[in-house]
Amino acid sequence: MRAAWGGLLSKTILFSAPFPPPSTLVAVVGVLGTRSLGIRATKPKMEKKNGLEREAVRKKENVINSNPKVNRIQQLMNGHSHGGWEKCWDQGLTPWDLGQATPIILHLHQSRALPKGRALVPGCGTGYDVVAIASPERHVVGLEISDTAIQKAKELSSSLPNANYVTFLKADFFTWLPTELFDLIFDYTFFCAIEPDMRLAWAQKMRDFLKPNGELITLMFPISDHIDGPPYKVSVSDYEEVLHPMGFQATSIVDNELAVGPRRGREKLGRWKRSSVIQSLL
Ligand SMILES: C[S@@+](CC[C@H](N)C(=O)[O-])C[C@H]1O[C@@H](n2cnc3c(N)ncnc32)[C@H](O)[C@@H]1O
Repeated sequence: MRAAWGGLLSKTILFSAPFPPPSTLVAVVGVLGTRSLGIRATKPKMEKKNGLEREAVRKKENVINSNPKVNRIQQLMNGHSHGGWEKCWDQGLTPWDLGQATPIILHLHQSRALPKGRALVPGCGTGYDVVAIASPERHVVGLEISDTAIQKAKELSSSLPNANYVTFLKADFFTWLPTELFDLIFDYTFFCAIEPDMRLAWAQKMRDFLKPNGELITLMFPISDHIDGPPYKVSVSDYEEVLHPMGFQATSIVDNELAVGPRRGREKLGRWKRSSVIQSLL
């Protein structure tokens, strides 16, 4: 079964224009955010879904299966490896792009629940999440392998008030060497985009790029049973398998009740710290 970004969604639901003014974002998340108090903690292992929930997820995947854009993306990726991403951007094949920041990261930012300092968003695409969490107290680096995506991100962010607090860099996450370490790394739809055999290298980079007491936040998506990719299916144990050997432990894993449209029920928010730091806090 094939699945996709569930990206058939949001432009119709919330925003038609890319990079809405921050006031719009605040208003929308203000509305969505009232529900976020109900964010439900789950065990770090994937919980079993009941029959109805499984059926709902299967229906969403079936709808998405028929998305020809995803099939085309997978063909491009199979044929071109890294260059495939540039081709996707070049051809406008970006069904993952929400056209807005993901509401949960904006909510965490607005509720002052994110570390300050330096933040990194790898595989940042158009950079909505980068801009959303940037502030005078937090400088955010958006890293992208695609020139087209970086150009788009720069153009879209240039006129925004917090443009001064973002840097967009074109580089390969796996070979890039930052000049300074980070207090926060936010991964959304990057883990599921890379080849599964790169996940251990992904975790090593997370360890290497974070300050010792830095925090990794993973918005895990798509939690499903499909085969093939990108996007490759993910599960909480997929993250644990590569993050535990690097000394990371989850400080919380919760269902993302602010997930947008078809992504609902298929996202979990994981917050991770290196275990030596967790032990010293006890
Ligand atoms: C599925 S998209 C997600 C984009 C963005 N996070 C979002 O949610 O809209 C994955 C992104 O990762 C980028 N990417 C893939 N491999 C990369 C690498 N090795 N280094 C940096 N970026 C990469 C792709 O160009 C693509 O824009």
